[in-house]
Amino acid sequence: MPAAHWEGTGVDEGHDELRVDGGRLRRSLEAMAEIGATPGGGMHRLALSDDDRRARDLLVAWLEELGTRVEVDEMGNIFGRRPGRDDGLPPVMTGSHLDTQPRGGRFDGVLGVMGALEVLRTLHERDVVTERPIVLVDWTNEEGSRFAPAMMASGVWAGALDRDWAWARTDADGFRFGDELARIGYRGPVPCARRPFHAYYELHIEQGPRLEREGRAIGVPRGIVCLHWYDVYIEGTANQVGTTPMEGRNDALVTAAEMVLEVRDLPARMGGGMVATVGELYTHPNSRNVVPGAAHFTVDIRSWDDELALGAWDLLQAEFRAIAARHGCGVRIEETWRVRHNEFAPELVARVRHAAGRLGYSTLDMESGAGHDASYMATVGPAAMVFVPSIGGRSHVEVEETSWEDCEAGANVLLQCVLASAHERDAGAGAG
Ligand code: HGY
Ligand code: MN
Ligand code: MN
Repeated sequence: MPAAHWEGTGVDEGHDELRVDGGRLRRSLEAMAEIGATPGGGMHRLALSDDDRRARDLLVAWLEELGTRVEVDEMGNIFGRRPGRDDGLPPVMTGSHLDTQPRGGRFDGVLGVMGALEVLRTLHERDVVTERPIVLVDWTNEEGSRFAPAMMASGVWAGALDRDWAWARTDADGFRFGDELARIGYRGPVPCARRPFHAYYELHIEQGPRLEREGRAIGVPRGIVCLHWYDVYIEGTANQVGTTPMEGRNDALVTAAEMVLEVRDLPARMGGGMVATVGELYTHPNSRNVVPGAAHFTVDIRSWDDELALGAWDLLQAEFRAIAARHGCGVRIEETWRVRHNEFAPELVARVRHAAGRLGYSTLDMESGAGHDASYMATVGPAAMVFVPSIGGRSHVEVEETSWEDCEAGANVLLQCVLASAHERDAGAGAG
């Protein structure tokens, strides 16, 4: 039986000396980075693409090598289950996502899945028996780039999003999520519905500049900001550019451009650490000698304060309508998706901070400005994350980079936290 627990955090000294194999972790990250690699050294592995399928197949093969029981659910979430001494207890879950941004990075999401795999490999080779089962999870479509919204499959699993609504979502070419999931062979038989879990941990790159700037090794987020996504459609009048006087044009792109600047100015007006971004802008017919007749753009508003973000949206909508009227254009607004800001279980956050400290890593308490599947997991049970530095604070780009040492450090913190929770017999910090 394990030795005494660390005071207050339940982190177990029984396996204090256990460490991941940093070289093996690096090799698994490098193998995954070959699937959907771009010439610029990044990743282009969009959700439900053939490259996503190849990455999934590789993960499943590795999980089967470890003797875990692999399940795939209706949203394509992949679960690899390692049994516990009392296999009926709610499991400890850990994982992240394998899909990437277009021209994205090699670490976003993948580090969390490979870190979880490395934890399972370490326990397996050392024959460690835990009280509780441990379940690795690869969440489908965390990025929400090809199929909006983000964190879609963890949202369905947590009961926040409807499965059929998710299946019906389409990409820019009109392909349906559910059809693409079936096409790659990962529309599994298992209902995508939450089940009790004792604790959820997600290892992830910070995707921002703070850890590097403050010289800290491990980020300890207390939660994740709210994410509000909108789609705005402008209807103007297309016409020949040479024969249409400037006066009286209904130029959809000029209208959209004024709206985009309003989005840019919003956070300064609202305060509260808000960010607001237009990431996508489409114009039609997109011909240099036609006055744009239509435009479509996306809005992403984030803040720790949900009410502030909602108030900002009310303000913005009024601005949009006034700008459209000034240009004689129609405007249609879709409130595409909202997830509130979510906070992690304080006991698990303390466990992350303590495990890092005992391993000799410096820590930084923070909030996550990036969305993660852990946000939805925190709505249905105790969750926490482990952050490692992003070099130059860059992410969602080909130059996204984290040192191998930092990847290993994060995986060691993850190992200790997963172990501590997996040895807990009582519900304690967990959900069951
Ligand atoms: O949008 C996000 O922050 C995440 O990468 N899906
Ligand atoms: Mn991610
Ligand atoms: Mn991302």
